[in-house]
Parts: sequence; C-alpha cells; structure tokens
Amino acid sequence: MQKLVIQGGRHLEGEIIVQGAKNSALPIAAASLLCDGEIWLENCPRLSDVYAACRILTNLGCRCRMQEHTVTVDAHGMDSSEIPEQFMCEMRSSIIFLGAVLGRMGTCTLGYPGGCELGPRPINLHLQALRRMGVKIHEENGILHCTTPNGLHGARIHLQFPSVGATENILLAAVTAKGETTISNAAREPEIIDLARFLRACGAQIAGEGTGTIVIRGVKQLHGCTYRIMPDRIVAATWLAAAAAAGGELSLRCVSASDLESILAVFEEMNCRMSASADSICFHAAAPLRAVRTLKTMPYPGFPTDAQAILMAALCCAAGTTVIEETIFENRFRHVDALVKMGADIRTAGRVAVINGVRSLHGAAVEATDLRGGAAMLIAGLCAAGETIITEIHHIDRGYDSPEQVLRSVGAEIIRV
Ligand code: EPZ
Repeated sequence: MQKLVIQGGRHLEGEIIVQGAKNSALPIAAASLLCDGEIWLENCPRLSDVYAACRILTNLGCRCRMQEHTVTVDAHGMDSSEIPEQFMCEMRSSIIFLGAVLGRMGTCTLGYPGGCELGPRPINLHLQALRRMGVKIHEENGILHCTTPNGLHGARIHLQFPSVGATENILLAAVTAKGETTISNAAREPEIIDLARFLRACGAQIAGEGTGTIVIRGVKQLHGCTYRIMPDRIVAATWLAAAAAAGGELSLRCVSASDLESILAVFEEMNCRMSASADSICFHAAAPLRAVRTLKTMPYPGFPTDAQAILMAALCCAAGTTVIEETIFENRFRHVDALVKMGADIRTAGRVAVINGVRSLHGAAVEATDLRGGAAMLIAGLCAAGETIITEIHHIDRGYDSPEQVLRSVGAEIIRV
C-alpha cells in the first residue's frame, strides 16, 4: 500500500502548470458516446477516475486510449448499454454516463451509485428530470433499468437544487432528444460551461450555460472533434492553499483566475497577496495568515464545497477563529480528526466547524478519508513541524496527477513510498 511521507517546514517557491479538470474530463468522456466520429480530448489529467471512465467506455464497446494527457474515443462500435456494478462502486460519478448512454442507445442498465465518503449520494433530481424526458425507470435490487419506449424528448425541467451531476445528465440526454429542453435553476459551475462548449464543438445546439437557465435544441447526430479540457480550479486552489500554509510564493500557469474568484477572495481576506492574468496567478503567502471570520460553501459562483477541506487545512495556523459551514454535503468533515491529531484546534457540530488558529502543527501518521480530505492532510503536512505520513492515498490519486512531483518541483520535501 503506497503512502506519502512529508518533512514539513519548507517554504514553496516556483511555478506550477495546473492539470486539466477531473470534473470536466469525466462528463466530457461520457459525452463522447454521443459522437459519430473520433474524439480527441487534450489536457486530460492522469487520474484513477479518468482511467475508470475509460474502462467504462471500453466496457460499452467503444475504443478508448489514453496516451500522455490525450484521451481518444471512438464510440462507433458501442454494443452495450450496461454499466456493471463494479464500475459504479469504483466511481460514484459514473452516474453521469446515464444521460449519454440513453441518448445513444435509448436504454441503460446501471447500479445505483449509493452513499460514499461524503454522505448519501442521492440521484432523485437526475431521475425526476429524465422521467420528464420520456425515460421509464424501474429499480430492482439496487439496479436501475432505464428505457425510452417513445424515445427521448425535450422538456421544461426545474431543478430543486442546482445539482452539477443532474445538470450534466440532462444536457447529455437533451442534445440528441426530439425537441427543445429548458433547464431552470441549472448548475453554473465552470465544468458545465466546458461540457456545453465540447458538445457545441460536436454540433450540439446549446445556449445559456453558466447561467441558471440552459436551453438545448435536440439535433439528429453529433460528430467528432478535438477538445482541450479546462484547467482544474480545485487543484489550483490546493496549490495556493499549500503555499499559504507553508509560506512562500507560487506562480500558477494554465489556470483561469475567474473560475477561482470566490476562493481568491478568501486568500485575500487571509492577508495573502496575488495578481492574476488571463491564464496565470502569482501568489504571495502572508505571515502570519489571518483567520477568515466565516466561510460558507455554496453552489457556484459561491465558495465551492470541494475547496472547504483545503482551506480548512490552511486556516489551522491562521491568527484568529474561523467558522466554516458546509451546506452542500452531509458528511464532509471527515478530515478534521486527522488535522486535530496534527495539533489543530477544530470542533465540529453537524455541518459547522470552528477552527481556532494554533501556532503550529506537528507531523503525524494520518489516513486519507476522501479526495479533498486527503489533500487537506497533504497541505497540513507541508506546514507541520516534523514528519507526516499519509496512507490510503488512493483517495488523493483520484483527483491529483502526481502530487508529490508537483510539490517537490517547488521545494517541498515529499516522497511516495
Ligand atoms: C459534483 O458532484 C462533483 N463531482 C463534486 O466533486 C462536487 O463536490 C459537487 O459536484 C458539488 O460541486 C463531479 O463533478 C464528478 P451535486 P455531484 O449533484 O454532481 C445533492 C470531487 O471531490 N443531490 O451538485 O454529485 C447531493 O447529495 C467531487 O471532485 C441530491 O439531493 O454534486 C449533494 O448534497 C466530490 N439529489 C448536493 O446535491 C440529486 O439527485 C450537491 O450534489 C443530486 C444531488
């Protein structure tokens, strides 16, 4: 079992090229099922979740290859509409294949994604929307049998909550459905915009992505294209939080600062200084960091839930008290125990965490609990005095492409054993 070993206390200095976005590459890989022609996806991160998506595509009968950071998909030979149980367990976000398989095959059988480390992962919003588009769904023993007896047709859909996954599934089902689909209260995340841009590059007719209302006019067929995946805004936030916690200055390249506005505002409140151009951010940590009075996770463009654990780690040694409220997921404080074991002063009650800044953290042996929780432990280890050992790092490898190499390149003392 691999682990990361960190000797804390080194300042970070240098330049990092930010990897492509996992949460854009996954839905776009699913969307490639709809395209008649080869798809070239550039700037794909080398992550276990991306490999899992390629396995699902291959299992469905597509030809899928990953060379370096380019994934090529040819869905011409697709001969199945079933996503087996083991894929649903391996990656809960496999649910984003549902809309694309329905759009291509008219039927889909897949396991129920079930709960995960963040709490229950319901898909009621996905299923309600698809039913309005003509999908019949029968659940038996945790398996969903979806059919479209009269074909997929457009519908007016209002989402009770701006769910990212539900918005993606509706987009994927709507682009080749009969007629027009309108999504109101749609998710506005940059990854939704990236998916819409990819689909439009393949011939889809979509308007309004990035706003709360998206309108899709179904077309008969999508064609192939070459597309470059957007930068990963959460990975960018992770490297900035690492610099904030460990001290030093970083310049991030291939990053879209406008996607991180709510996160950069928090770093400014923490007294860090930064300047941004179209595709780079220069960042100077403050010493000492200042606590942020309150931090509340919200759907985009609010402060993202995926950055909550990451900023919490950076706030452990900030001067003052921060109250974090996690409004998106039920159980997203599982990284707190590890941070407390490293000397942080954090108390949680339900969806609220109170962080009292301490002078310093000390290294410890900790276990990653989930993707962003694991990243939080990485950040804490970089600023802790002494050695930190992180196990269960498969969680981190789901979202970070060679994190130890990236951090070593800017001065961190970290190895994977
Ligand atoms: C996506 O998950 C991301 N995953 C998550 O990133 C991210 O945290 C989340 O969006 C919020 O931004 C991918 O893109 C692969 P949601 P998703 O549907 O689509 C509830 C990471 O670390 N809900 O917006 O699952 C749900 O329980 C991952 O990269 C319903 O109640 O998020 C949650 O409380 C973690 N019913 C809230 O909405 C539904 O049908 C947000 O879920 C769907 C969701």
